[in-house]
Amino acid sequence: MSCKVALISGASRGIGAATAKTLFEAGWAVSLGMRQLALPEWADGAPDRVHQFAYDATDQAVAQEWSQAVTDRFGRIDALIASAGIMIPKTPIEISDAEMTEMLEINVQAPRRLAAACWDALAASGEGRIIMLASLSGKRVKSAQAGSYSMSKFAVVGLAHALRQAGFDQGIRCTAVCPGFVATDMAMSITDRAPEVMTQPEDLARVIQTLIDLPNEASVAEFAVNCQLEERF
Ligand SMILES: NC(=O)c1ccc[n+]([C@@H]2O[C@H](COP(=O)([O-])OP(=O)(O)OC[C@H]3O[C@@H](n4cnc5c(N)ncnc54)[C@H](OP(=O)(O)O)[C@@H]3O)[C@@H](O)[C@H]2O)c1
Repeated sequence: MSCKVALISGASRGIGAATAKTLFEAGWAVSLGMRQLALPEWADGAPDRVHQFAYDATDQAVAQEWSQAVTDRFGRIDALIASAGIMIPKTPIEISDAEMTEMLEINVQAPRRLAAACWDALAASGEGRIIMLASLSGKRVKSAQAGSYSMSKFAVVGLAHALRQAGFDQGIRCTAVCPGFVATDMAMSITDRAPEVMTQPEDLARVIQTLIDLPNEASVAEFAVNCQLEERF
């Protein structure tokens, strides 16, 4: 494949779906990680640049299988966009062990496994890119209800920095993307603000496209973006 290739988890909806469309329209080949396979209508035009894979983040073997399927199909991996995630709006006191384990598994362990599975291919490209969908909840704890989710997202920010350290000499650049409210199902389920006052997934997709297009010499460790004024972000 002569064009660059991106793996995108959480590609069925929200930020992952918007990013897949934006990258596809920019000429990338995209591998869509989804629990329920469904080809987006925008993919009709150039099916040779679209690959689908049944990805469930709770399956520990799936990352390696997905990475292998993409290198078999396209011969390369240039970017990993880890967008699949869940939000359980409970304090660290209310949340059960099982719920916390599930959130850490999907939000932290699964993207770590994806990075590990794609690592050799990303290094082979000499300019591999990893985008971890973290959150402003990985930078500050905004409310008690967001506390357990924040724990997982602080870990994602740490993961992104650790990957940046591990891959820098091989040309891998990793960015923790840290949005506030983005107008997707996840945000709608926890706030009654109108979608139009939130960051739009398409705008975040443009940010991600820019981040992965930047040269090795323009490494962005964290990118914070907010729809509202806060003291630091
Ligand atoms: N929306 C926000 O305000 C916001 C703000 C900051 C950060 N983020 C982060 O951005 C990322 C994307 O969020 P979003 O707003 O796009 O959320 P969303 O619209 O709720 O979409 C979540 C995505 O994650 C996938 N997913 C959930 N559990 C999965 C599992 N076990 N295996 C595989 N895929 C799974 C969903 O797939 P299904 O369709 O199969 O359920 C869906 O594609 C998340 O990591 C989130 O924490 C979101």
